[in-house]
Amino acid sequence: MGAGIEIAPGIFAREPETGDGPEALEFFNSLVDEDAMLSNNEKNTPESEEKWLVDALTKISAGKAVVLFAFDRKGKLKATAQAELGRGRRSHVATIGLSVSKDKRRRGIGKALLERILSDAKTKLGAKIATLSVFEENLPARALYSGTGFSEEGKRMGHLLYKGKYSNEILMSKSL
Ligand SMILES: CC(C)(COP(=O)(O)OP(=O)(O)OC[C@H]1O[C@@H](n2cnc3c(N)ncnc32)[C@H](O)[C@@H]1OP(=O)(O)O)[C@@H](O)C(=O)NCCC(=O)NCCS
Repeated sequence: MGAGIEIAPGIFAREPETGDGPEALEFFNSLVDEDAMLSNNEKNTPESEEKWLVDALTKISAGKAVVLFAFDRKGKLKATAQAELGRGRRSHVATIGLSVSKDKRRRGIGKALLERILSDAKTKLGAKIATLSVFEENLPARALYSGTGFSEEGKRMGHLLYKGKYSNEILMSKSL
């Protein structure tokens, strides 16, 4: 496993590698267990996680996506960020994803990883716009994105089902 760049004390970020499947599986499934405010709430299997990883590595090699995995000193995956280019008329727009493990939040990891993935989206993918959507109730994420220069551009009413209720989806973007 490569060491990566220290983005916060004791947290090292690098691109994913083949062999990261088991760590990725544990990390993403922990977010599902937590019922985090993410659009995906279905657990992965070792096979589906491996497929996700192979797809991600293919897109990275093709210059269509950038992904960062952040590990602690013990090699446990603690945060991920990705930016993926759209296609055709959206090929200048990168969709962003970001998650930090519950035990490592409020230490600046999310912000550091977000800033890096935005920089990579601009320089490596040539993206002009970064975009994402967030649950209206996800105040930590909205504060992080607003503080990083994202603007709220729209709201889709009731598009997300969360804990038995329909939640609004806030659309946010930032010029790169
Ligand atoms: C949203 C998330 C990525 C933030 O990561 P983090 O590492 O805790 O964020 P940071 O420590 O870098 O915080 C950066 C800024 O975000 C805001 N923020 C983060 N957590 C916050 C909270 N609980 N309440 C209010 N603001 C918060 C603050 O403005 C903070 O800056 P500050 O510490 O100087 O006040 C993290 O909470 C997470 O992974 N949540 C679950 C998954 C998720 O919601 N992902 C986003 C989906 S769109």
